Amino acid sequence: MTSLPTTTSPAPRRLLAIETSCDETAAAVIDERLQVLSNVVSSQSALHRRFGGVVPEVASRAHVELIVPVIDQALTQAETTPAELSAIAVVNQPGLVGSLLVGLTAAKSLALAWGLPLIPVDHIAAHLYACRMQAGQDVFPAVGLVVSGGHCNLYDCRSATECELLGSTIDDAVGEAFDKVASMLGLPYPGGPSIQKAAAAGNRRAYAFPRSFEKDPRRLEFSFSGLKTAVLYELAGKPPAPYDPAQLAPGRVADIAASFQEAAVDVLVAKARQALDQCGYRTLLVGGGVAANARLRERLQEAAERQRWRLIIAPPQLCTDNAAMSAIAWELLASGRTAGLEVDVVSGLVRRPRTV
Ligand code: KG4
Ligand code: ZN
Repeated sequence: MTSLPTTTSPAPRRLLAIETSCDETAAAVIDERLQVLSNVVSSQSALHRRFGGVVPEVASRAHVELIVPVIDQALTQAETTPAELSAIAVVNQPGLVGSLLVGLTAAKSLALAWGLPLIPVDHIAAHLYACRMQAGQDVFPAVGLVVSGGHCNLYDCRSATECELLGSTIDDAVGEAFDKVASMLGLPYPGGPSIQKAAAAGNRRAYAFPRSFEKDPRRLEFSFSGLKTAVLYELAGKPPAPYDPAQLAPGRVADIAASFQEAAVDVLVAKARQALDQCGYRTLLVGGGVAANARLRERLQEAAERQRWRLIIAPPQLCTDNAAMSAIAWELLASGRTAGLEVDVVSGLVRRPRTV
């Protein structure tokens, strides 16, 4: 008797994603079912710490040294050979030009050498796609809030690849404000986690810091420079005089950190609510490094329960920069959005109308 042929479904396709837009050198292997097979992130924060922020030239040099070992590690951890890959995805915008160029050059070289399609990815769209990965199902249409060291933006997201910018910060990004205030308080870089830690022991109502545009629903924009300056005046007087952060009493540091964090979170929650009302949507997606903040997550959760929104916040490991969130490349590949070797980096944020 002859046995019937067995039908086995083919293994899901895999892609290699590369991310070097700022100060994290990252590579990941993700399959078409959005399973993350590896997600390697080499953070340069220790290198930038003594400068209190990212130094672009230092970042690009570090990417050059790290990119090959990081890609190697991502493939090894995912037990994937180049022959098993279907595409190379790479973040080519927005970000620091020198940093983006390292990732893009590596991706182009591998795509050429291995004969694979190259898919350019928008970093901001990838931050929001981390929410889609978290949900495990379709999440659109939705309002997208991206809060990071370089961005503070609201989007009308009709699909993963059609996000129109509703408004952004007119000065500092919220993560930048966390980083600067941490430095004023003598807390280590990156400032977000340091402020969160110090704030845990502080009184959030100790200082009444400003909350720009919080009560103006017509203005879907942010401003954090006034908040940052208010903290500086509180610490150094007006006009500011030199002071030594190391001499600040721990209780005062905790109260200022907690009051600053609360002011920033109040604005983010209010603006997200206003954007949902304006778009008529009930789903909010939140991504970017600041979305890892515990107080922001708690306050958004409370608001979502009260207002009956569907809230999807990227999981903490997909909030700060990583390559796994570039899984959005599967959607781009499906609509033929591959690029030739002439594709370049774009440093700045692309303004509306915007399709990512
Ligand atoms: O998304 P990301 O890794 O890089 C950019 O695209 O900018 O975001 C980095 C930012 C930094 O400003 C960092 O201080 C902030 O995210 N951050 C946080 C927290 N973790 C990281 N801010 C507040 N609370 C946190 N727990
Ligand atoms: Zn980012």
